[in-house]
Amino acid sequence: MIKIQDVRKKYSTGGKSFFALDGVSLEIEEGEFVAITGKSGSGKSTLLNMIGTLDRVTSGSIFVEGKNIAKLSGKKVAEYRNKTVGFVFQSFYLEPSYSVYENVELPLVLAGRTGKQNRKRVEDALAEVGLTKKIKEKARNLSGGEQQRVAIARAIVNDPSYILADEPCGNLDTANSENIMRILAALHESGKTIIMVTHDPEDAQKADRIVTMSDGKIISDVTQKRDDASA
Ligand SMILES: Nc1ncnc2c1ncn2[C@@H]1O[C@H](COP(=O)(O)OP(=O)(O)O)[C@@H](O)[C@H]1O
Ligand SMILES: [Mg+2]
Repeated sequence: MIKIQDVRKKYSTGGKSFFALDGVSLEIEEGEFVAITGKSGSGKSTLLNMIGTLDRVTSGSIFVEGKNIAKLSGKKVAEYRNKTVGFVFQSFYLEPSYSVYENVELPLVLAGRTGKQNRKRVEDALAEVGLTKKIKEKARNLSGGEQQRVAIARAIVNDPSYILADEPCGNLDTANSENIMRILAALHESGKTIIMVTHDPEDAQKADRIVTMSDGKIISDVTQKRDDASA
């Protein structure tokens, strides 16, 4: 479970400072699929980056499975980023000159895993996103939709409990977006907790719960009732 308590994030630019997060409290249970939505600049990415320890809170705490991650130090932060959470970004961030295999294997290598057993993990992750056939292809030769699927495979290869996705469909056309949303829904079905930032109301509707931000604050938090037919 993730328990965010009164988190503030202050940025200072050009002598002025403001709070990109201005007292955010939020609890996310294991296995939830949460969409974080709101206008550009409302603090969505800042919040996701805090949960992922890509950035540091100014004040407040974020407990993940009972540990305050805002207080983790060097080695523990790296381990948390690598094993507890998996990231998916709008711009994919693959290594273009690496093969699909090498891109997906990277978090395993960073976690100190090498050798033959990586092969199975990479293949399993690629099977989940339907890209087994492209395993030898260089990342730069893939379409945007394929690149995002590789990025998702890379995010899940260490079997993290939490997937953090920041506008994962932001650079994709409708067909590819639908494909990515289906993959996220399947990962959710398999038990992952998904936190997805999106400004697209249609994508947000696919989550169980929609948290809306404005000016660094949560202004609404709605858990959706749905019947199975809509899945
Ligand atoms: N590193 C930074 N330095 C200064 N201001 C920042 C920084 N990152 C984000 N901001 C500002 O914080 C606010 C929230 O940004 P962000 O979380 O990226 O919004 P969103 O993802 O909802 O569009 C914006 O006004 C943005 O310009
Ligand atoms: Mg953003």
